[in-house]
Amino acid sequence: MFTIIVAENYDEASHEAMKLVRDVLRKERPVLGLTAGSTPIGLYKEMIEGYQSGELSYRNVRTWNLDEYIGLARSHPQSCHTYMREKLFDHVDIPQENIHIPNGDAEDPEAECERYEASLQDVTIDLQILGLGTDGHIGFNEPGTPFESLTHVAELTEQTRRDNAHYFGGNIELVPKKAISMGLATVMRARRVVVIATGTAKANAVYNMIKGPMKSRCPASALQAHPRLTVIADKEAAQRILF
Ligand code: GLP
Repeated sequence: MFTIIVAENYDEASHEAMKLVRDVLRKERPVLGLTAGSTPIGLYKEMIEGYQSGELSYRNVRTWNLDEYIGLARSHPQSCHTYMREKLFDHVDIPQENIHIPNGDAEDPEAECERYEASLQDVTIDLQILGLGTDGHIGFNEPGTPFESLTHVAELTEQTRRDNAHYFGGNIELVPKKAISMGLATVMRARRVVVIATGTAKANAVYNMIKGPMKSRCPASALQAHPRLTVIADKEAAQRILF
């Protein structure tokens, strides 16, 4: 079961996603699943504006992020920690202790995966925000990742490293080869999931996610089984499912 919203452009897609976030923020202790990447930047801007105008507060919000690169310290300019601070957390009133992001610098990454999964054991994410990799990955669940996967050490594909090289000054060699990622089964536990996809580069992934077979070669196709999935795509990303 899914709802698809086709937005005119990126800003409208961000705005549609913000409506879902607002719904969740009405709860007493909202739990948000967050992601890095360029896709949610417009949404995070709207979340910040809501705080700055005095309309929204994040004091009671708890967040869990999808993933983090292995080998990058929290303070590394390209870490998901830094991204989240710069793009959202430094600009709103969320308490530090409410923020959860895997530690990519942990001495024992496997143990860190277990710790992270356990931190979610008694928690249900109200709204998981997802971007989409051009190969259909969500988080760093690359093609071939089993649908029943929990938080794990993920190997990044060449394509993902190429896609993300622009964050590392265009140098693919600087893009880590591994990451800690929530698994597909972890993501599926969220009460509600929203995938935001914009631009032509995402058109095939959007098609495979909702029209393709539910196979691990397109990890996002696991979401077809989610009871409350919303896909927000701009016209370019939705081109293959509309015509
Ligand atoms: C990255 C992240 C994903 C993200 C996706 C799309 O590799 N691990 O969580 O959603 O790729 O990134 P972007 O939004 O920059 O297109």
